Amino acid sequence: MATTESVIETENLTKRYGRFTAVSRLNLRVFRGEIFGFLGPNGAGKTTTILMLLGLTEPTYGHVAVLGFNPTRRPLDVKRRVGCLPENVGYYRDLTGRENLRYVARLNGLPEDEAEERISSALERVGLADEGDKLVGAYSRGMRQRLGLAELLVKKPEMMILDEPTLGLDPKGMAEVLQLIRSLSKEQGTTVLLCSHHLHQVQEVCDRVGIMNEGHLVAQGTIEELSREGLKSEEGKRLSLEEIYMRYFREE
Ligand SMILES: Nc1ncnc2c1ncn2[C@@H]1O[C@H](COP(=O)(O)OP(=O)(O)OP(=O)(O)O)[C@@H](O)[C@H]1O
Ligand SMILES: [Mg+2]
Repeated sequence: MATTESVIETENLTKRYGRFTAVSRLNLRVFRGEIFGFLGPNGAGKTTTILMLLGLTEPTYGHVAVLGFNPTRRPLDVKRRVGCLPENVGYYRDLTGRENLRYVARLNGLPEDEAEERISSALERVGLADEGDKLVGAYSRGMRQRLGLAELLVKKPEMMILDEPTLGLDPKGMAEVLQLIRSLSKEQGTTVLLCSHHLHQVQEVCDRVGIMNEGHLVAQGTIEELSREGLKSEEGKRLSLEEIYMRYFREE
């Protein structure tokens, strides 16, 4: 269940690259247990925000706290608690999916028996039961993406940050993975920040959404608001799902 405890909080978070502002005065709150859809077209500033949340790039200005930690100063404390599926999932190509997961389990200090159990059930859960013992070098993009999710199932982090988790998946795979993310989050109470430029596909599995465009959070609200009266925009006006779609996601 989502609570009112914030696990991600940013205040005027800003990232500039030279004179270009990739993220501008972002005020974001994500509550424990919810699935927050961080949505926006290509180049909106989603990945840049994630990099700041993980302490992988330093903000130019503003504050950020993840599970109470400042990621710039305490990157390891954040990394230990937050599972991340990056934009490009990387694995050892000359190891099988299962062997890659064993490696992750060892890095995370999981006892061997428990690791084996979690790995088998994770592979099953993401639909890789039959491919787990093939070399990752022979995986398709969608299979690597699923392996990334299996890794999160093995780690069982307190929070997951997923950057385009459906990248490279066909429509059926996309729907399956989104439902999987939803059921995992709800079963384990895991907070999820889900980044995507697919508004239509992703909104269904979220509790709340924030719409980014050109570095600004232009609207945010619950899914009920999005479908009923529209989201409150920066200017205080309500934008319907259709308006949001037409303004920011038409190219989708
Ligand atoms: N290292 C960098 N140096 C200069 N500009 C950058 C850098 N990283 C990102 N940008 C710019 O910042 C903007 C936001 O990029 P970002 O990757 O955060 O977008 P995004 O919302 O994740 O987009 P996508 O949906 O395509 O993944 C883009 O205009 C991008 O070109
Ligand atoms: Mg991105």
